[in-house]
Amino acid sequence: MCGIVGYLGKHDTKGILLDGLKELEYRGYDSAGIAVLQGDEFSYFKAVGKLVNLEAKTAGFSTSGFAAGIGHTRWATHGKPTEINAHPHLGESSYVVHNGIIENYQELKNALVAGGVHFLSQTDTEVIVHLFESLMNSGMEPMQAFRETVSRLKGAYAILLITKQMPDTIFFAKHGSPMIVGVNESDEKFFGSSDAALIGKCNRVVYLEDGQLGFVSRTGIHLENSNACVVPRFAALPESKLAAQKEGFRFFMEKEIYEQSEVLSDTLIGRLADEAIVFDELDPSLLDGINEIKLCACGTSYHAALASSYLFERLGKIRTSVEIASELRYKEPLLCSDTLFVAISQSGETADTLETLKMARAAGLKTLVICNVDNSSMVREADAAILTRAGIEKGVASTKAFATQMVVLWMFSLYVAQTKGAIGTQAMREQIALLREIPAVVKVDDGLHERIRRLSKRYLHGHGFFFIGRDIFFPLALEGALKLKEISYLHAEGYPSGEMKHGPIALADPELFTIALMPKNLLYDKTKSNVEELSARDATICAISDTPFEKADDFIPIAAHAHYMPEFFEMMVVLQLLSMEIAIRLGNDVDMPRNLAKSVTVE
Ligand code: M6R
Repeated sequence: MCGIVGYLGKHDTKGILLDGLKELEYRGYDSAGIAVLQGDEFSYFKAVGKLVNLEAKTAGFSTSGFAAGIGHTRWATHGKPTEINAHPHLGESSYVVHNGIIENYQELKNALVAGGVHFLSQTDTEVIVHLFESLMNSGMEPMQAFRETVSRLKGAYAILLITKQMPDTIFFAKHGSPMIVGVNESDEKFFGSSDAALIGKCNRVVYLEDGQLGFVSRTGIHLENSNACVVPRFAALPESKLAAQKEGFRFFMEKEIYEQSEVLSDTLIGRLADEAIVFDELDPSLLDGINEIKLCACGTSYHAALASSYLFERLGKIRTSVEIASELRYKEPLLCSDTLFVAISQSGETADTLETLKMARAAGLKTLVICNVDNSSMVREADAAILTRAGIEKGVASTKAFATQMVVLWMFSLYVAQTKGAIGTQAMREQIALLREIPAVVKVDDGLHERIRRLSKRYLHGHGFFFIGRDIFFPLALEGALKLKEISYLHAEGYPSGEMKHGPIALADPELFTIALMPKNLLYDKTKSNVEELSARDATICAISDTPFEKADDFIPIAAHAHYMPEFFEMMVVLQLLSMEIAIRLGNDVDMPRNLAKSVTVE
């Protein structure tokens, strides 16, 4: 995820910008850059990869006296992670950094190109600086040109811009992406896309609101909204960096649950056309000669694999098997060259999954990895990779990583279908429309969260939990049970609803808690019968559905949807919140559960 910093003042501009960028590193990025304007002289530096590369490039550079500086860590969306695509982007005499997406950039770019402007990068951001300069060239003053530029942008943005036409000034605008302006006693001005970049540097900040723009100069802050001046409303800055990174949430897990809507939008960007799935990162020949898909992973990633196997067969019409990596390693599997081996991993470093990937390669299979971490061992090992774009996940319990894996796997099942001609245009359109719904579906509703928080107090004991579901909701039940057990330390199992009567129903009594996933759009009546069987034996039932179920002791409502995939994603959020609230009530460290590590690099 991108990060922005800015500084206007007379101290060590380079050092302040690099420090600020370091504080934003946790968000994940693949390139970085800074631009500094001193008088009418610009210096700029960009580097691909980690900040140490940028530090190395700026080693011989320093500022003395007053300067305006902007910096950025870029997490690629439009265009590859190259130096040219890294921010800041240059016009003739101005530099810009930007977070978010300019949705109408192509339209703006076409008009600028027609007017003779030359673009260097593949980014959406570059249009901002060229549009600004073309408006100035048409006779506008810098602030007027900046205001006009911002008014023509559609999408989400946080922008900083510096220009020789008005040195000692930083222009800013915010709409849909966070931006904070800070000041200190020495009248220095700071910018950050998150508190973390500002802590220790200033004590009073303005959290910009959508639609606000303006500039900072030696004399103060000019802030406006819809052409009217606004008096900046200052707030005190939190003192703890860790607390700042949590952005007001109690735990990283909670923050990451709430982030899912945003990261899923990132996962989808550029990958959905009207009637097709677009994976620019895949060679079109990847599926040549492929008749089977073998999905392999551990833990939560295994649950994503298992859930998606229903989609690969149902939508992709391709034979699909799923393997737990630690099992596959030693079972002497028959690996055939017409199988595409797909490893799924948040970290890209899990030892067992990595080894199976190597085994598959050694057996001559084509390999694909679905991963959240670029340049991880698995991404480097596989023939092809699709990045899930979840940003750094800090909570040990995977939440947004699972959500993004599911969306990528769903899209990949459709990609298989389109490549093999197994899906019609209308069906593809419907699937794409569903995919587009998901970021809104996973937005956490405050009322729902509060209901789950209140309900959680009834589930702190008992002799065990069964999470049950059918079809794709069975792997979701497995994931719900894993979430609960890893952070609450309560025993929980995921089970297919229809299997309960083949043994586990013997455990049924009021102290057996059953969390029943009852989607309206998939096998509802069958699941209902299974839950009734448990209810008849006095098990305590918590039903999750859009339809109240009279035999349930507790009911968590989800919105009514016309398809089971939105139901899947909404129930996923419910299960994440439920396990987190139970664990919080039990006083556990939700982010760092006992005995667990985020990345399991041992066998
Ligand atoms: O990084 P990976 O996805 O390969 O990790 C695999 C598992 O260790 C991981 O999914 C684990 O089960 C989750 N963190 C649990 O929430």
